[in-house]
Amino acid sequence: MKIGIIGPGAIGRLLGYTLAQGGHDVVLICRREEQAERFLQTGVTYVDPDGQEHHAPVQAVVGGVEELDGVIVTVKSYDTESAATQIAALHTQAPVLSLQNGLGNAETLARHLDPDRIALALTTHGATAEGETKVWHKGRGQTVIGSLVPPSTAGAFWAELLEECGHPAALSDDIRREVWSKAMVNIGINPFTAVLGVQNGQLLQESEILPLMQAAVEEAERAALAEGVVLQGSFQRVLDVCKNTAENTSSMLQDLQKGRRTEIDAMCGVIVQVAEKSGSSAPYNFFLKKIVKKCETKRSKLSSLEMKGL
Ligand code: PAF
Repeated sequence: MKIGIIGPGAIGRLLGYTLAQGGHDVVLICRREEQAERFLQTGVTYVDPDGQEHHAPVQAVVGGVEELDGVIVTVKSYDTESAATQIAALHTQAPVLSLQNGLGNAETLARHLDPDRIALALTTHGATAEGETKVWHKGRGQTVIGSLVPPSTAGAFWAELLEECGHPAALSDDIRREVWSKAMVNIGINPFTAVLGVQNGQLLQESEILPLMQAAVEEAERAALAEGVVLQGSFQRVLDVCKNTAENTSSMLQDLQKGRRTEIDAMCGVIVQVAEKSGSSAPYNFFLKKIVKKCETKRSKLSSLEMKGL
């Protein structure tokens, strides 16, 4: 099969390598010519969890590509709209898989594409992108996949394809709930670690911050309910994840440290929107969004001064 991947970051490269190893034609859809050139020259370099390097040849393009049998979207949540228009312009009815962070990605895709084509996935595999073409698979995890509109076969298509390539994938009949549930954990951890500049486990020592984390997560649970998703015990899961990933630097803190835009809009931002739509408000999430945005601006100014050597 010929599979396109929009957004060849860490997870995009990991899936690209997996599918290429499984005998499929992988086309990495890049934003920059230089990156596409590098992929064409070297393929994807995969470093396994034991540190061994492997290579898989891939095709790489900037822009459109014809006759795809499936499209995987792994771009940051704020680039989903542009990925959706890019897929709509491909004139294919092939299944689409969104493996992205945050809330609202599926809804954005569904504004441009037939919802029956769309599947969502979550993964706990740890992968880090290095340079233009390398991915380091730091820890094996689990991948869960489900159709956006459950009777459709989009979820099963992707789960079978990945399984065949040696990447186990469990099929969920309520992936929307799983996505919301993961968002609760992100909301309880990411903005707090980002603003305080601490690793996940350190949040457990912050006795004055814990009630704020709880308030933000409970507010998010109420927003989920307004969207028809019943969640309970999310704050306990936040505490468990803080404990189990104590040494991790959250993705949002990493984004800030690198002077990059964060995915706060697809986390606290969506909670604020949902609360407003249902005639209520979400002040904790509103404040978190605002303060993370401030940190983003400050950090990116600092980064550009550092790049100028000032
Ligand atoms: O986004 C992240 O960094 C992770 O999903 C988690 C576990 C919430 C924090 O490290």
